Amino acid sequence: MAERRQPLISGNWKMHHDHFEALRTVQKLSYNLADHDYAKVAVSVHPPFTDLRTVQTAMESDRMKFALGAQHCHWEEKGAFTGEVSPVFLAKLNLAYVICGHSERRELFGETDDDVNRKVKAILKHGMTPIMCCGETDAEREAGEAQSKVEGQIRAGLAGITAEQAAGLVVAYEPIWAIGTGKTATPEDAQEMCAVVRRVVAEVHGADAAAGVRVQYGGSVKPGNAADLMSQADIDGALVGGASLDADDFAQIVVASV
Ligand code: PGA
Repeated sequence: MAERRQPLISGNWKMHHDHFEALRTVQKLSYNLADHDYAKVAVSVHPPFTDLRTVQTAMESDRMKFALGAQHCHWEEKGAFTGEVSPVFLAKLNLAYVICGHSERRELFGETDDDVNRKVKAILKHGMTPIMCCGETDAEREAGEAQSKVEGQIRAGLAGITAEQAAGLVVAYEPIWAIGTGKTATPEDAQEMCAVVRRVVAEVHGADAAAGVRVQYGGSVKPGNAADLMSQADIDGALVGGASLDADDFAQIVVASV
């Protein structure tokens, strides 16, 4: 049997936690997790931009073992883009991961599949790993369009990258109706959709890429449902919003995923 891909549990803090709160949260998280917890599971935290350097300094001085990531970036390296953050700046901070194409960015800030594709390429170009999000709305699921929506997002988002790059990617399947709502996809439904993600990666980039890509599930992941979701064959981790703001809950999700 193929070796299991190392799961990645990522905490997306969205627009929560100023840099003081962020510091307290990572200190508590580090205290809650033991060395053996990291042996089988990778962990990343994604605070707001203004917190990154503060969190990073604490992580370095206390040798915290999780990785640091951003929630968003522009695809351009520099220029007249008021309010945007360059992938070059994030690479300079040695960030490991950058989330892109989160449904909140797509729905509230108008990011298109093409924008997401440009970001995927920019993040890769600067040596970081994209966590590219996809997922359907409630209406799309009701209309039987969940798979085609996600398939389209994956094909567009991963266009023009190499098979080797695809193999190192993280894709987060996050049904929009489950984000922040307390509703979670059943483990079987989540598995079905994560398998769709992997099939499409195989069709576009080949079997090796599909075997390597890590597919996270996101949408109301909590300590109580994490183990069932993570035990599914095609689910290689979780993108956690609300429950990642609390270091106790987030640590329990990590431990449940081992
Ligand atoms: P949630 O958010 O865990 O609060 O549902 C997940 C996400 O948006 O990444």
